[in-house]
Amino acid sequence: MERGKKDIAVCFPFKKEDIEDFKRNVKEALSHERVRDILLAGHSENETYKGVESFINTLSDDERSRIHLFTQKRIGSKRPGKGDGMNTAIKYFVENTRSRFLHFYDADIKSFDRTWIDRVQKRLDEGFDVARCFFPRAYTDAMVTWNITRTGFAYTWPDTILPDIEQPLGGELGIRREVAEKLSMDELVLDASDWSIDTALTIAFARYNVKLYEVYIKEGKHHKLYGKLSDLETMAVECFNVIKENRRLVIDTSHMVYEKDKIESVPEEYKKRIAFDIDGSIKEFKSGWTDEMKSIVKEYLPKDVSLKVLDAVEDGNYDFMDTNMWYDVYDALMKHFDIKKQAWRRVLFKLWVLRVLNHAKLALKDPDESLKSLQEMVELFRKKRLSRV
Ligand code: DGY
Repeated sequence: MERGKKDIAVCFPFKKEDIEDFKRNVKEALSHERVRDILLAGHSENETYKGVESFINTLSDDERSRIHLFTQKRIGSKRPGKGDGMNTAIKYFVENTRSRFLHFYDADIKSFDRTWIDRVQKRLDEGFDVARCFFPRAYTDAMVTWNITRTGFAYTWPDTILPDIEQPLGGELGIRREVAEKLSMDELVLDASDWSIDTALTIAFARYNVKLYEVYIKEGKHHKLYGKLSDLETMAVECFNVIKENRRLVIDTSHMVYEKDKIESVPEEYKKRIAFDIDGSIKEFKSGWTDEMKSIVKEYLPKDVSLKVLDAVEDGNYDFMDTNMWYDVYDALMKHFDIKKQAWRRVLFKLWVLRVLNHAKLALKDPDESLKSLQEMVELFRKKRLSRV
């Protein structure tokens, strides 16, 4: 660690957050001897924003002068969301601060403390351009990460390091100023105003061939969990779409330096924790099918898959979407999915629910086996695509 220097900016993008957790996290970051700027990028001037504003008024002059509170600008062309917040912060950092490093952390993390900043910064001080956190997660969690993003990377860029990245959707990361400058001018990233931002950043890091380190935060990221899988519908769709949209990009990571912490063992509590309501998700799968959605399934999915899906809508046999079948579904989605059509978005979500339910059943029976099957799924995608190219 370089001593006596204040050279880090820490950003917390936020929307509607638990104000006490948020305040504690800001205080932790403020107390770090190298943190010079705190960027608070709000979605809008909502209740959380006003709460943070009053909190700032209670701080000392020195602390107040280091905090930059602002609302996000409309930068991308997709749905206005997290991506606009991060991009506004990156631009703000480049244009209005002199710090050498920019860190991002979610505002609602209950387990965040200043040692996270140390652990990320250690790698940047060692010469890495980007240090990104990854966490132990319940074996039924990270279902967008595994079934949409890591599989999508293996499908699209099988001969790169992209599918090996543990947490390609991780929002806790540190970057050097030079990387922030590039991102602030990168059309692919600037356009990713919604949930696609984390994927867009991961793709950008691979295109820039940064030196990337993934830092394992073993105590985990304690934050609010979701209820039903439908809480993740928009995220699943947006994370899929950004990969599909960019599928023609040529990415070569053969000269990229990529290292990550070794995971010694995953704490038992994570293996058995159920990340969502299974019965509620089954009900959701069955409801809301329109004729247009059924026609999409019939027309675009391979026959054996479409028959099973349409039967499941009627008879409630949900447990067939194994990793092999998911490859065939993914292939069809890559070719035909159209984000502009509501029916397509709903179909993608429903198919993903089937995949998640199939995985959850295995996770409940044999957690270790289920994790292995996710890793094997990524390799299966990679192998199938490599043998085609
Ligand atoms: C993921 O899949 O990583 C999302 O954060 C949902 O858990």
